[in-house]
Amino acid sequence: MSRTGLKKLIRPLVRELHAYVPGEQPKIKGLIKLNTNENPYPPSPKVLRAVKNSVDSRLRLYPNPTSEKLREKLAKLHKCKPENIIIGNGSDELLALAVRGFVEPVAADVNRRKNRAFTSAATVQYFTPSYSLYRVLADIHGAAKNAVALKQDFGLPVVEELKRGKFWNFDAALTFVTTPNAPSGRGYITAELEKICHAQKGVVVLDEAYVDFAEENALKLALKFPHVLVARTFSKAYSLCFQRVGYFVGNAELIAALDKIRDSYNVNGLGQIAAEATLDDLDYYRANFWKIVFTREKLSRELAKLGFRVLPSQTNFILVEPPKFPAKVWLQKLRGKKILVRWFSAPEVIDFLRITIGTPSEAAALVKMVRGIL
Ligand SMILES: Cc1ncc(COP(=O)(O)O)c(C=O)c1O
Repeated sequence: MSRTGLKKLIRPLVRELHAYVPGEQPKIKGLIKLNTNENPYPPSPKVLRAVKNSVDSRLRLYPNPTSEKLREKLAKLHKCKPENIIIGNGSDELLALAVRGFVEPVAADVNRRKNRAFTSAATVQYFTPSYSLYRVLADIHGAAKNAVALKQDFGLPVVEELKRGKFWNFDAALTFVTTPNAPSGRGYITAELEKICHAQKGVVVLDEAYVDFAEENALKLALKFPHVLVARTFSKAYSLCFQRVGYFVGNAELIAALDKIRDSYNVNGLGQIAAEATLDDLDYYRANFWKIVFTREKLSRELAKLGFRVLPSQTNFILVEPPKFPAKVWLQKLRGKKILVRWFSAPEVIDFLRITIGTPSEAAALVKMVRGIL
């Protein structure tokens, strides 16, 4: 079959899709990796032991299909019921399930498309800049997108501003809010989020991937409002990117709807074991949060002294506007010095670099290289 013939076998939507671009996972050793918001500290010794002790003949068996034990432990931690929790293969999987579960694909029928109520039912809404996966998930599903700009300082517009601006859709089927925001690192006050949740008619997902490094969390909103879900992950604060475990907390009916459409064995067994052991050793992780926050504040001060504009962060990364050269040039210069950071071409952040907080020695190496470049 010719190449064009083969292409025709692929749905036009997929052919034209701009896929999500993950940060580089370098194959060469010796790089300082500050580009994908991983935790610089390893999982706790107890977690490593639990995983190692599970690598035996049980690998031939399917894992628990509903991640039952993990949901029970999380329910205890968050003072809710296991029915309020669904576990995913990373929170990314659950974000995708939310789109599939709550949003209509855009209709082929023009009349339905013109119908305002239908358009809202087919709309995935999010602020920009925020997690760039939301756009891709909407595109994969064939949903309508409503991307609305945050304020210039990456603050959340208040409900009155959203009403006045006219672009925001209070009836959107699904609204994602990254809180604290990525890639800016800006934290949001729960009371502000509550007002937005209160005004929204469709489902709201508060994506709290970085919340353990923040001053507040909005988990109570998932237990208060039936249409609000909070997304959490073991990837960032709990050093488990490799295992891919995330979860949603929220109303049992919404959770049950997502449960219906997930893969039967969506969370691998070792991931479940690692996440359960993590919850038995939270003090270890809390100590790491503090170390990361301390390094973040110190690095922010040092870069500011060197002429960088450093935005305040409540995450394990900082967004900085570098002096002297464009951000993209800094990306390459740092790469030349074996330091990987992240640069995005989106217009709101094109002048910035996003730097993951590493260990104190990685931060010191970064500052030294920056001085050299300057
Ligand atoms: C805002 C946000 N949400 C969710 C995720 C996905 O996390 P997970 O590893 O649980 O899929 C990320 C990862 O970069 C993220 O930045």
